[in-house]
Amino acid sequence: MTKIPHRLYLTEDQMPRRWYNLRADMKEQPDPLIHPGTHEPLPAESLYPIFCEKLARQETDCTTRYFDIPEPVLDMYKLYRPSPLCRAYNLEKALGTPAKIYYKFEGNNTSGSHKLNSAIAQAYYAKEQGLKGLTTETGAGQWGTALSEACAYFGLDLKVFMVKVSYEQKPYRKAVMQTFGADVTPSPSDTTEAGRAILAHDPTTGGSLGCAISEAVEMAVTHEGYRYVLGSVLNQVLLHQSIIGLESRQAMELLDEYPDIVIGCAGGGSNLGGLIAPFMQDKLLGRTDPRIIAVEPASCPSLTRGRYAYDFCDTGHVTPLARMYTLGNGFMPAPNHAGGLRYHGMSPILSKLYHDGYMEAVAVKQTDVFEAAVQFAKVETILPAPESAHAIRSAIDEALRCKQTGEAKTILFGLTGTGYFDMAAYEAYHNGRMRNHVPTDAELAEGFASLPAMA
Ligand SMILES: Cc1ncc(COP(=O)(O)O)c(C=O)c1O
Repeated sequence: MTKIPHRLYLTEDQMPRRWYNLRADMKEQPDPLIHPGTHEPLPAESLYPIFCEKLARQETDCTTRYFDIPEPVLDMYKLYRPSPLCRAYNLEKALGTPAKIYYKFEGNNTSGSHKLNSAIAQAYYAKEQGLKGLTTETGAGQWGTALSEACAYFGLDLKVFMVKVSYEQKPYRKAVMQTFGADVTPSPSDTTEAGRAILAHDPTTGGSLGCAISEAVEMAVTHEGYRYVLGSVLNQVLLHQSIIGLESRQAMELLDEYPDIVIGCAGGGSNLGGLIAPFMQDKLLGRTDPRIIAVEPASCPSLTRGRYAYDFCDTGHVTPLARMYTLGNGFMPAPNHAGGLRYHGMSPILSKLYHDGYMEAVAVKQTDVFEAAVQFAKVETILPAPESAHAIRSAIDEALRCKQTGEAKTILFGLTGTGYFDMAAYEAYHNGRMRNHVPTDAELAEGFASLPAMA
Protein backbone atom coordinates (compact mmCIF):
# COMPACT_ATOMS: atom_id res chain seq x y z
CA MET A 1 0.00 0.00 0.00
CA THR A 2 1.26 3.50 -0.77
CA LYS A 3 2.25 5.58 2.21
CA ILE A 4 -0.44 7.86 3.61
CA PRO A 5 0.56 11.47 2.79
CA HIS A 6 1.37 14.04 5.48
CA ARG A 7 -1.44 16.24 4.21
CA LEU A 8 -4.44 15.03 2.25
CA TYR A 9 -6.52 17.63 0.37
CA LEU A 10 -9.80 16.58 -1.19
CA THR A 11 -10.32 18.20 -4.57
CA GLU A 12 -12.91 20.96 -5.03
CA ASP A 13 -15.13 18.42 -6.79
CA GLN A 14 -14.98 16.08 -3.81
CA MET A 15 -16.07 18.80 -1.41
CA PRO A 16 -19.38 18.04 0.37
CA ARG A 17 -22.34 19.92 -1.14
CA ARG A 18 -24.63 19.49 1.88
CA TRP A 19 -24.42 20.14 5.60
CA TYR A 20 -25.50 17.36 7.94
CA ASN A 21 -28.02 17.98 10.73
CA LEU A 22 -27.14 15.62 13.58
CA ARG A 23 -30.49 16.15 15.30
CA ALA A 24 -32.19 14.16 12.53
CA ASP A 25 -30.51 10.99 13.83
CA MET A 26 -30.61 11.63 17.57
CA LYS A 27 -32.80 9.17 19.46
CA GLU A 28 -33.92 11.92 21.81
CA GLN A 29 -33.95 15.57 20.81
CA PRO A 30 -32.16 18.35 22.67
CA ASP A 31 -34.70 20.50 24.54
CA PRO A 32 -35.95 23.48 22.51
CA LEU A 33 -35.19 27.14 23.11
CA ILE A 34 -37.92 28.53 25.36
CA HIS A 35 -39.32 31.96 26.17
CA PRO A 36 -37.84 33.20 29.47
CA GLY A 37 -41.22 34.46 30.72
CA THR A 38 -43.72 31.84 29.55
CA HIS A 39 -41.27 28.92 29.27
CA GLU A 40 -43.07 27.96 26.04
CA PRO A 41 -40.95 26.53 23.17
CA LEU A 42 -40.12 29.18 20.58
CA PRO A 43 -41.24 28.47 17.02
CA ALA A 44 -38.97 29.68 14.20
CA GLU A 45 -41.19 32.74 13.46
CA SER A 46 -40.75 34.07 16.99
CA LEU A 47 -37.00 34.21 16.36
CA TYR A 48 -37.31 36.30 13.17
CA PRO A 49 -36.78 39.64 14.97
CA ILE A 50 -33.39 38.36 16.19
CA PHE A 51 -32.15 35.94 13.50
CA CYS A 52 -32.42 35.82 9.70
CA GLU A 53 -35.44 33.76 8.72
CA LYS A 54 -33.61 30.87 7.09
CA LEU A 55 -31.23 30.62 10.04
CA ALA A 56 -34.15 30.65 12.50
CA ARG A 57 -35.67 27.76 10.52
CA GLN A 58 -32.39 25.83 10.58
CA GLU A 59 -32.21 26.48 14.31
CA THR A 60 -35.53 24.82 15.02
CA ASP A 61 -35.43 22.07 12.37
CA CYS A 62 -34.79 18.70 14.01
CA THR A 63 -35.85 16.51 11.10
CA THR A 64 -34.22 17.64 7.83
CA ARG A 65 -31.13 15.45 7.68
CA TYR A 66 -29.21 17.33 4.97
CA PHE A 67 -29.29 20.99 3.89
CA ASP A 68 -27.91 21.98 0.48
CA ILE A 69 -25.04 24.44 0.83
CA PRO A 70 -26.02 27.48 -1.29
CA GLU A 71 -23.78 28.05 -4.35
CA PRO A 72 -22.49 31.49 -3.18
CA VAL A 73 -21.45 29.87 0.12
CA LEU A 74 -19.68 27.07 -1.74
CA ASP A 75 -17.92 29.68 -3.90
CA MET A 76 -16.47 31.35 -0.82
CA TYR A 77 -15.69 27.99 0.83
CA LYS A 78 -13.59 27.17 -2.23
CA LEU A 79 -11.28 30.09 -1.40
CA TYR A 80 -9.91 28.05 1.54
CA ARG A 81 -11.56 24.64 1.49
CA PRO A 82 -11.32 21.67 1.41
CA SER A 83 -9.06 21.92 4.44
CA PRO A 84 -6.28 19.35 4.82
CA LEU A 85 -6.52 16.14 6.81
CA CYS A 86 -3.02 15.77 8.24
CA ARG A 87 -1.20 12.71 9.51
CA ALA A 88 0.95 13.67 12.50
CA TYR A 89 3.82 11.36 11.63
CA ASN A 90 6.33 13.58 13.38
CA LEU A 91 4.32 13.82 16.57
CA GLU A 92 3.75 10.05 16.57
CA LYS A 93 7.50 9.54 16.24
CA ALA A 94 8.32 12.06 18.96
CA LEU A 95 5.88 10.35 21.33
CA GLY A 96 7.03 6.85 20.35
CA THR A 97 3.39 5.78 20.16
CA PRO A 98 1.91 2.99 18.07
CA ALA A 99 -1.21 5.18 17.66
CA LYS A 100 -1.97 6.82 14.33
CA ILE A 101 -2.75 10.49 14.85
CA TYR A 102 -4.72 12.55 12.33
CA TYR A 103 -5.83 16.15 12.60
CA LYS A 104 -8.12 18.29 10.50
CA PHE A 105 -6.51 21.71 10.14
CA GLU A 106 -8.97 24.61 9.91
CA GLY A 107 -6.50 27.48 10.27
CA ASN A 108 -5.67 28.01 6.58
CA ASN A 109 -7.67 31.19 6.07
CA THR A 110 -7.09 34.82 6.99
CA SER A 111 -9.38 34.70 10.00
CA GLY A 112 -7.24 31.78 11.14
CA SER A 113 -9.93 29.40 12.37
CA HIS A 114 -12.95 27.21 11.66
CA LYS A 115 -15.27 30.08 12.57
CA LEU A 116 -15.36 31.19 8.92
CA ASN A 117 -17.39 28.08 7.98
CA SER A 118 -20.47 29.41 9.76
CA ALA A 119 -19.71 33.12 9.28
CA ILE A 120 -20.00 32.71 5.50
CA ALA A 121 -23.32 30.89 5.79
CA GLN A 122 -24.79 33.41 8.21
CA ALA A 123 -23.66 36.44 6.20
CA TYR A 124 -25.00 34.89 3.00
CA TYR A 125 -28.49 34.28 4.42
CA ALA A 126 -28.58 37.86 5.75
CA LYS A 127 -27.70 39.23 2.32
CA GLU A 128 -30.22 36.96 0.63
CA GLN A 129 -32.92 38.32 2.98
CA GLY A 130 -32.01 41.87 1.94
CA LEU A 131 -30.71 42.96 5.34
CA LYS A 132 -28.38 45.94 5.85
CA GLY A 133 -26.13 44.42 8.39
CA LEU A 134 -25.36 42.16 11.33
CA THR A 135 -24.36 42.50 14.95
CA THR A 136 -22.34 40.06 16.97
CA GLU A 137 -20.05 39.55 19.94
CA THR A 138 -16.53 38.23 19.91
CA GLY A 139 -14.39 36.97 22.76
CA ALA A 140 -10.86 36.20 21.73
CA GLY A 141 -11.62 37.73 18.33
CA GLN A 142 -11.67 34.77 15.94
CA TRP A 143 -15.42 34.85 15.38
CA GLY A 144 -15.48 38.63 14.87
CA THR A 145 -12.61 38.34 12.41
CA ALA A 146 -14.29 35.55 10.47
CA LEU A 147 -17.60 37.36 10.33
CA SER A 148 -15.99 40.63 9.24
CA GLU A 149 -14.34 38.73 6.38
CA ALA A 150 -17.68 37.19 5.36
CA CYS A 151 -19.62 40.47 5.68
CA ALA A 152 -17.05 42.29 3.54
CA TYR A 153 -17.40 39.58 0.88
CA PHE A 154 -21.21 39.78 0.79
CA GLY A 155 -21.38 43.58 1.25
CA LEU A 156 -22.99 43.84 4.71
CA ASP A 157 -22.38 46.23 7.62
CA LEU A 158 -21.07 44.62 10.78
CA LYS A 159 -21.10 45.83 14.37
CA VAL A 160 -18.92 43.76 16.72
CA PHE A 161 -19.00 43.93 20.52
CA MET A 162 -15.62 42.66 21.61
CA VAL A 163 -15.04 41.52 25.21
CA LYS A 164 -13.13 44.42 26.75
CA VAL A 165 -10.11 42.44 28.03
CA SER A 166 -9.52 40.99 24.57
CA TYR A 167 -10.06 44.41 22.95
CA GLU A 168 -7.26 45.76 25.11
CA GLN A 169 -4.98 42.70 24.91
CA LYS A 170 -5.36 42.01 21.19
CA PRO A 171 -5.29 45.32 19.32
CA TYR A 172 -4.29 43.61 16.08
CA ARG A 173 -7.40 41.44 16.05
CA LYS A 174 -9.40 44.64 16.15
CA ALA A 175 -7.31 46.07 13.31
CA VAL A 176 -8.03 43.02 11.14
CA MET A 177 -11.78 43.40 11.74
CA GLN A 178 -11.55 47.10 10.90
CA THR A 179 -9.64 46.28 7.73
CA PHE A 180 -12.63 44.23 6.62
CA GLY A 181 -14.88 47.20 7.46
CA ALA A 182 -16.34 46.13 10.83
CA ASP A 183 -17.19 48.61 13.56
CA VAL A 184 -15.67 47.24 16.80
CA THR A 185 -16.80 48.38 20.28
CA PRO A 186 -15.33 47.16 23.58
CA SER A 187 -17.98 45.47 25.74
CA PRO A 188 -19.52 46.35 28.12
CA SER A 189 -20.08 49.74 26.49
CA ASP A 190 -22.31 52.71 27.16
CA THR A 191 -23.97 52.33 23.75
CA THR A 192 -26.66 49.86 24.94
CA GLU A 193 -29.02 49.54 27.93
CA ALA A 194 -27.52 46.15 28.74
CA GLY A 195 -23.97 47.51 28.65
CA ARG A 196 -24.86 50.49 30.83
CA ALA A 197 -26.54 48.22 33.41
CA ILE A 198 -23.50 45.93 33.57
CA LEU A 199 -21.15 48.93 33.91
CA ALA A 200 -23.34 50.43 36.67
CA HIS A 201 -23.00 47.15 38.55
CA ASP A 202 -19.22 46.87 38.02
CA PRO A 203 -17.49 49.80 36.25
CA THR A 204 -14.13 47.98 36.21
CA THR A 205 -15.31 44.72 34.62
CA GLY A 206 -13.26 43.34 31.75
CA GLY A 207 -16.46 41.97 30.24
CA SER A 208 -17.47 38.48 29.20
CA LEU A 209 -19.01 36.79 26.19
CA GLY A 210 -22.34 36.76 28.03
CA CYS A 211 -22.23 40.60 28.39
CA ALA A 212 -21.22 41.13 24.78
CA ILE A 213 -24.06 38.89 23.55
CA SER A 214 -26.59 41.02 25.46
CA GLU A 215 -25.27 44.17 23.80
CA ALA A 216 -25.19 42.69 20.30
CA VAL A 217 -28.74 41.29 20.55
CA GLU A 218 -30.04 44.63 21.84
CA MET A 219 -28.32 46.51 19.03
CA ALA A 220 -29.86 44.18 16.42
CA VAL A 221 -33.43 44.32 17.68
CA THR A 222 -33.38 48.11 18.03
CA HIS A 223 -31.96 48.81 14.53
CA GLU A 224 -34.02 48.41 11.37
CA GLY A 225 -32.51 45.99 8.85
CA TYR A 226 -30.08 44.38 11.33
CA ARG A 227 -30.03 40.90 12.79
CA TYR A 228 -27.89 39.21 15.38
CA VAL A 229 -25.58 36.27 14.65
CA LEU A 230 -23.67 33.98 17.01
CA GLY A 231 -20.53 32.00 16.24
CA SER A 232 -21.09 28.97 18.43
CA VAL A 233 -23.53 27.12 20.73
CA LEU A 234 -26.55 27.33 18.39
CA ASN A 235 -27.84 24.35 16.40
CA GLN A 236 -27.48 26.26 13.10
CA VAL A 237 -23.77 26.85 13.78
CA LEU A 238 -23.14 23.16 14.42
CA LEU A 239 -24.98 22.44 11.17
CA HIS A 240 -22.63 24.70 9.16
CA GLN A 241 -19.57 23.31 10.94
CA SER A 242 -20.53 19.76 9.90
CA ILE A 243 -18.45 20.47 6.78
CA ILE A 244 -15.38 19.77 8.96
CA GLY A 245 -16.53 16.28 9.90
CA LEU A 246 -17.94 15.44 6.48
CA GLU A 247 -14.64 16.29 4.78
CA SER A 248 -12.74 14.39 7.49
CA ARG A 249 -14.78 11.23 7.09
CA GLN A 250 -14.52 11.39 3.31
CA ALA A 251 -10.74 11.89 3.41
CA MET A 252 -10.31 9.07 5.92
CA GLU A 253 -12.41 6.80 3.72
CA LEU A 254 -10.03 7.51 0.83
CA LEU A 255 -7.21 6.37 3.11
CA ASP A 256 -9.19 3.35 4.26
CA GLU A 257 -9.08 4.69 7.79
CA TYR A 258 -11.65 5.32 10.53
CA PRO A 259 -11.05 6.92 13.93
CA ASP A 260 -11.30 4.95 17.16
CA ILE A 261 -11.19 8.25 19.05
CA VAL A 262 -12.39 11.70 17.91
CA ILE A 263 -11.24 14.66 19.99
CA GLY A 264 -12.09 18.35 19.90
CA CYS A 265 -11.80 21.37 22.14
CA ALA A 266 -15.09 22.66 23.44
CA GLY A 267 -15.93 26.31 24.03
CA GLY A 268 -19.54 26.66 22.93
CA GLY A 269 -19.24 23.41 20.99
CA SER A 270 -19.24 24.44 17.33
CA ASN A 271 -16.02 22.88 16.06
CA LEU A 272 -16.52 19.74 18.11
CA GLY A 273 -20.13 19.42 17.00
CA GLY A 274 -19.03 19.85 13.38
CA LEU A 275 -16.07 17.48 13.54
CA ILE A 276 -17.94 14.67 15.24
CA ALA A 277 -21.20 15.01 13.28
CA PRO A 278 -20.80 12.14 10.76
CA PHE A 279 -18.95 9.93 13.26
CA MET A 280 -21.68 10.51 15.83
CA GLN A 281 -24.20 9.65 13.13
CA ASP A 282 -22.43 6.31 12.66
CA LYS A 283 -22.50 5.79 16.41
CA LEU A 284 -26.17 6.73 16.76
CA LEU A 285 -27.10 4.40 13.93
CA GLY A 286 -25.08 1.57 15.47
CA ARG A 287 -22.62 1.34 12.54
CA THR A 288 -19.46 2.08 14.57
CA ASP A 289 -18.62 3.01 18.12
CA PRO A 290 -15.81 5.61 18.25
CA ARG A 291 -15.00 7.32 21.54
CA ILE A 292 -15.79 11.03 21.32
CA ILE A 293 -13.97 13.36 23.70
CA ALA A 294 -14.72 17.02 24.44
CA VAL A 295 -11.79 18.91 25.95
CA GLU A 296 -12.49 21.99 28.02
CA PRO A 297 -10.35 24.25 30.20
CA ALA A 298 -10.28 23.43 33.92
CA SER A 299 -10.97 27.14 34.48
CA CYS A 300 -14.33 27.03 32.66
CA PRO A 301 -15.57 23.45 33.08
CA SER A 302 -19.15 23.58 31.81
CA LEU A 303 -19.42 19.89 30.88
CA THR A 304 -17.35 18.32 33.63
CA ARG A 305 -18.61 20.45 36.52
CA GLY A 306 -21.65 22.31 35.19
CA ARG A 307 -25.36 21.62 35.59
CA TYR A 308 -27.68 20.40 32.85
CA ALA A 309 -30.31 23.12 33.15
CA TYR A 310 -32.22 25.82 31.32
CA ASP A 311 -30.19 29.03 31.37
CA PHE A 312 -29.88 32.33 29.59
CA CYS A 313 -27.31 32.45 26.79
CA ASP A 314 -26.21 35.90 27.98
CA THR A 315 -25.54 37.86 31.14
CA GLY A 316 -28.07 40.63 30.53
CA HIS A 317 -30.97 38.16 30.11
CA VAL A 318 -32.11 39.37 26.71
CA THR A 319 -31.90 35.94 25.02
CA PRO A 320 -34.22 32.91 25.12
CA LEU A 321 -33.42 30.08 27.55
CA ALA A 322 -31.47 27.06 26.30
CA ARG A 323 -31.14 23.73 28.11
CA MET A 324 -27.47 22.99 28.28
CA TYR A 325 -24.58 22.17 30.56
CA THR A 326 -23.90 25.52 32.16
CA LEU A 327 -21.94 27.17 34.92
CA GLY A 328 -24.68 29.81 35.21
CA ASN A 329 -24.96 32.95 33.12
CA GLY A 330 -23.41 34.96 35.97
CA PHE A 331 -20.24 32.83 35.98
CA MET A 332 -17.17 34.97 35.36
CA PRO A 333 -14.23 32.89 34.22
CA ALA A 334 -10.83 33.82 35.62
CA PRO A 335 -8.54 35.56 33.12
CA ASN A 336 -7.57 32.70 30.87
CA HIS A 337 -5.64 33.10 27.66
CA ALA A 338 -7.61 30.50 25.74
CA GLY A 339 -10.26 33.17 25.36
CA GLY A 340 -12.49 31.19 23.03
CA LEU A 341 -13.21 28.60 25.69
CA ARG A 342 -14.61 30.95 28.32
CA TYR A 343 -18.32 30.66 27.65
CA HIS A 344 -20.57 29.65 30.57
CA GLY A 345 -22.68 27.17 28.56
CA MET A 346 -22.36 24.43 25.97
CA SER A 347 -24.24 23.66 22.75
CA PRO A 348 -27.64 22.08 23.57
CA ILE A 349 -26.95 19.31 21.02
CA LEU A 350 -23.62 18.37 22.60
CA SER A 351 -25.08 18.78 26.09
CA LYS A 352 -27.81 16.28 25.28
CA LEU A 353 -25.37 13.79 23.71
CA TYR A 354 -23.08 14.10 26.72
CA HIS A 355 -26.01 13.75 29.12
CA ASP A 356 -27.14 10.60 27.30
CA GLY A 357 -23.68 9.05 27.48
CA TYR A 358 -22.61 9.32 23.81
CA MET A 359 -19.64 11.56 24.60
CA GLU A 360 -16.93 11.93 27.22
CA ALA A 361 -15.46 15.17 28.52
CA VAL A 362 -12.14 16.05 30.14
CA ALA A 363 -10.93 19.31 31.68
CA VAL A 364 -7.28 20.29 31.26
CA LYS A 365 -5.06 22.88 32.87
CA GLN A 366 -3.65 25.83 30.99
CA THR A 367 0.05 25.09 31.43
CA ASP A 368 -0.46 21.47 30.35
CA VAL A 369 -2.22 22.79 27.26
CA PHE A 370 0.69 25.07 26.34
CA GLU A 371 3.18 22.29 26.96
CA ALA A 372 1.29 20.26 24.34
CA ALA A 373 1.07 23.27 22.00
CA VAL A 374 4.84 23.78 22.06
CA GLN A 375 5.57 20.08 21.64
CA PHE A 376 3.22 19.95 18.65
CA ALA A 377 4.50 23.17 17.04
CA LYS A 378 8.11 22.01 17.12
CA VAL A 379 7.49 18.78 15.23
CA GLU A 380 4.40 19.47 13.13
CA THR A 381 5.46 23.05 12.19
CA ILE A 382 2.05 24.62 12.82
CA LEU A 383 1.61 27.17 15.61
CA PRO A 384 -1.71 26.13 17.18
CA ALA A 385 -4.33 28.41 18.69
CA PRO A 386 -4.51 27.94 22.47
CA GLU A 387 -8.07 26.65 22.08
CA SER A 388 -6.97 24.02 19.58
CA ALA A 389 -4.12 23.04 21.87
CA HIS A 390 -6.67 21.67 24.34
CA ALA A 391 -7.46 19.00 21.76
CA ILE A 392 -3.74 18.42 21.15
CA ARG A 393 -3.26 17.85 24.89
CA SER A 394 -5.91 15.18 24.96
CA ALA A 395 -4.69 13.56 21.71
CA ILE A 396 -1.18 13.33 23.14
CA ASP A 397 -2.52 11.85 26.37
CA GLU A 398 -4.49 9.23 24.45
CA ALA A 399 -1.47 8.44 22.24
CA LEU A 400 0.70 7.99 25.33
CA ARG A 401 -1.91 5.66 26.78
CA CYS A 402 -1.61 3.61 23.58
CA LYS A 403 2.14 3.53 24.12
CA GLN A 404 1.57 1.94 27.51
CA THR A 405 -0.98 -0.60 26.31
CA GLY A 406 0.63 -1.21 22.91
CA GLU A 407 -2.66 -0.51 21.12
CA ALA A 408 -2.39 1.08 17.66
CA LYS A 409 -5.52 3.18 17.88
CA THR A 410 -6.48 5.74 15.24
CA ILE A 411 -6.97 9.17 16.74
CA LEU A 412 -8.54 12.13 14.95
CA PHE A 413 -8.54 15.60 16.48
CA GLY A 414 -9.63 19.04 15.36
CA LEU A 415 -6.89 21.61 14.94
CA THR A 416 -9.23 24.55 14.81
CA GLY A 417 -6.88 27.45 14.24
CA THR A 418 -3.56 29.22 14.38
CA GLY A 419 -2.17 31.05 17.37
CA TYR A 420 -0.57 34.11 15.77
CA PHE A 421 -2.72 36.54 17.75
CA ASP A 422 -2.10 34.69 20.99
CA MET A 423 1.60 35.30 21.35
CA ALA A 424 1.10 37.13 24.66
CA ALA A 425 -0.20 33.84 26.05
CA TYR A 426 2.73 31.89 24.60
CA GLU A 427 5.09 34.49 26.08
CA ALA A 428 3.46 34.14 29.50
CA TYR A 429 3.96 30.39 29.26
CA HIS A 430 7.64 30.72 28.29
CA ASN A 431 8.28 33.27 31.06
CA GLY A 432 6.69 31.06 33.69
CA ARG A 433 4.00 33.68 34.31
CA MET A 434 1.11 31.51 33.20
CA ARG A 435 -1.14 30.48 36.08
CA ASN A 436 -3.65 27.67 36.28
CA HIS A 437 -6.98 28.48 37.77
CA VAL A 438 -9.42 25.82 38.84
CA PRO A 439 -12.57 27.35 40.32
CA THR A 440 -13.51 26.22 43.81
CA ASP A 441 -16.93 24.72 44.50
CA ALA A 442 -17.83 28.00 46.23
CA GLU A 443 -16.94 29.97 43.07
CA LEU A 444 -19.05 27.62 40.99
CA ALA A 445 -21.93 27.97 43.46
CA GLU A 446 -21.97 31.72 42.77
CA GLY A 447 -22.46 31.00 39.07
CA PHE A 448 -25.19 28.41 39.73
CA ALA A 449 -27.02 30.99 41.84
CA SER A 450 -27.62 32.95 38.61
CA LEU A 451 -29.57 30.10 36.97
CA PRO A 452 -33.19 31.12 36.33
CA ALA A 453 -35.83 29.53 38.54
CA MET A 454 -37.90 27.03 36.57
CA ALA A 455 -41.36 26.49 38.05
C1 LIG B 1 -9.45 28.61 17.27
C2 LIG B 1 -10.66 28.31 18.09
N1 LIG B 1 -10.92 27.05 18.41
C3 LIG B 1 -11.98 26.72 19.16
C4 LIG B 1 -12.83 27.68 19.66
C5 LIG B 1 -13.97 27.24 20.51
O1 LIG B 1 -15.22 27.50 19.99
P1 LIG B 1 -16.21 26.35 19.62
O2 LIG B 1 -16.38 25.51 20.83
O3 LIG B 1 -17.45 27.04 19.23
O4 LIG B 1 -15.63 25.60 18.48
C6 LIG B 1 -12.61 29.02 19.34
C7 LIG B 1 -13.52 30.06 19.84
O5 LIG B 1 -13.30 31.23 19.74
C8 LIG B 1 -11.50 29.33 18.53
O6 LIG B 1 -11.24 30.58 18.19
